[in-house]
Amino acid sequence: MSSRTGFAVMLCGTFVLASGARAAGDDGGKKDAAALSPAEAKKLKNPVPYTKKSIAQGRVLFLRSCTGCHGTDGKAMVDVVANATDLTAPEGWKNGTSDGEAFRSIRDGAGESMPSFKNQIQEEQIWQLVNYIHSLWPAGKRPPLQEDGAGGASPGKTGGRSSP
Ligand code: HEC
Repeated sequence: MSSRTGFAVMLCGTFVLASGARAAGDDGGKKDAAALSPAEAKKLKNPVPYTKKSIAQGRVLFLRSCTGCHGTDGKAMVDVVANATDLTAPEGWKNGTSDGEAFRSIRDGAGESMPSFKNQIQEEQIWQLVNYIHSLWPAGKRPPLQEDGAGGASPGKTGGRSSP
């Protein structure tokens, strides 16, 4: 048996961790913690463009955190938690259907059993969820789809996970 020894030259270069760390919410977390009023929520504008990409990102989040109550299709037909809103039918929504209102329902919770996700899901991702949910609506009610990369989307700054 001959064994071939390769030279493993381990050059431990300098690892520069230029981590553009996201603000950890240290700066005056007050604003962040306060629940939005319905009026405040209505005024919010979705900063995440309604694109295939953000919809796909929202879908991943939805499948991870929301299907237990709303069902994989968002219709909440599966009898898991009674009274979870059918997210595919905006006319039946109880807490407002504007982007900001949906954002508020997800971030701060809604009704008696929709939990608040503000500690689990970053705001940008909540907007992605809002976009995903819009994609479940009937064609006439969906916002117009924008091109990926439109609106100066940040290049290559995805959170890692990018399974479609
Ligand atoms: C524990 C069960 C549960 C989970 C998990 C859950 N929801 Fe809900 N959701 C509900 C219920 C119940 C309601 C209805 C609230 C009400 O009666 O006003 C609701 C309402 C909503 C609404 C507002 C609809 C309306 O009627 O105005 C949105 C939007 C929503 N959910 C999105 C989500 C998203 C996105 C997730 C995952 C991040 C999620 N939900 C996870 C139970 C849940």
